Amino acid sequence: MKKTILSGSTVTGNLTLGNYIGAINNWKQLQDEYNCYYFLADLHALTVQQDPPTLKQRIYSFYAQYLALGLDPQKNIIFVQSHIHEHAELTWILTCLTPMGYLNRMTQFKEKAEKHVKNINAGLFTYPVLMAADILLYQADLVPVGEDQRQHLELCRDIVGFFDRGYKKGLFKMPEAHIGKTGARIMSLQDPTKKMSKSDENDKNFISIIDDPKKIEKKIKSAATDSGTDIQFDEENKPGISNLLTIYSVLSGKNISQLETEYAGKMYGHLKVDLAELVLETLKPVKEKHDDLMKNLDYLDDLMKSGAERAQLRARKTLHDVYEATGLVLRKP
Ligand code: AMP
Ligand code: TRP
Repeated sequence: MKKTILSGSTVTGNLTLGNYIGAINNWKQLQDEYNCYYFLADLHALTVQQDPPTLKQRIYSFYAQYLALGLDPQKNIIFVQSHIHEHAELTWILTCLTPMGYLNRMTQFKEKAEKHVKNINAGLFTYPVLMAADILLYQADLVPVGEDQRQHLELCRDIVGFFDRGYKKGLFKMPEAHIGKTGARIMSLQDPTKKMSKSDENDKNFISIIDDPKKIEKKIKSAATDSGTDIQFDEENKPGISNLLTIYSVLSGKNISQLETEYAGKMYGHLKVDLAELVLETLKPVKEKHDDLMKNLDYLDDLMKSGAERAQLRARKTLHDVYEATGLVLRKP
């Protein structure tokens, strides 16, 4: 029996080079070994104010970005969260098991509440319960997430405990976080001490995988570098150059010390020119495939539909078992 992996990405911004290197590139290596579910967390996106036409376009674009990066829709089950109504339904049951105090501790809630002072809605508060439902519906064994989501995953594990004690032990599989081992962390281009993030307000900090090539080139050339002139990997004293070397190394397959030798005696500018070329070369086919897919939304609708059908088979069974365990009367089929 293959183990089940599940992960999702909130539909905000566009996927970045960081998502590509830190997540999706690794997912591709898992697709043969595991049962993989990957979804777009569109319901999660609603916890902050969205412009409806932009959101709709972005959901299609995200789906196309997943495919363009090489996730195979046959080998993986790729779906949109809101297409499976069981997510919202299971969330209700789990919400009724989750103490307010546990949610109050979530650092992401505190951060977001500070950032969106005018829109501290209840959804922002219960967001981690929806995330737990996402995971538990599919009985996932492993959940690849970034460090920032570790606390939400711990809460999900707590919720499994509440359900075990309140209703039925063992109904849910206990999920584990899968935090990439060597998973390179790509840092912001202007501030290389923080992570490159798709929700960064400063557009110069990240490279979106579907950015215009001219923009990518400009962003790399204006990336913050460090004092000194040597091209050497030293995260502490040379975070900027180290970040560029990391990106170079992952995309070229050359190891860092090999690059240091190649660039000995050269200037930062040389590295940036070569790196820009490499990134453009890597992302060109990705953007082309994305743009092509976006010309045919009907085709994307079809893929979304078949992904949702496959995902729902699993989700429906879990929700059925949960309703049964909670004492609700099941409607005759
Ligand atoms: P997010 O963009 O925060 O929704 O993250 C989605 C996935 O991409 C998670 O598995 C993250 O660990 C990964 N990821 C996001 N940003 C980076 C980054 N800058 N470097 C490496 N991995 C990243
Ligand atoms: N909250 C996650 C993030 O912002 C996205 C997400 C939603 C997710 N549901 C999930 C990730 C379930 C893993 C499993 O990055």
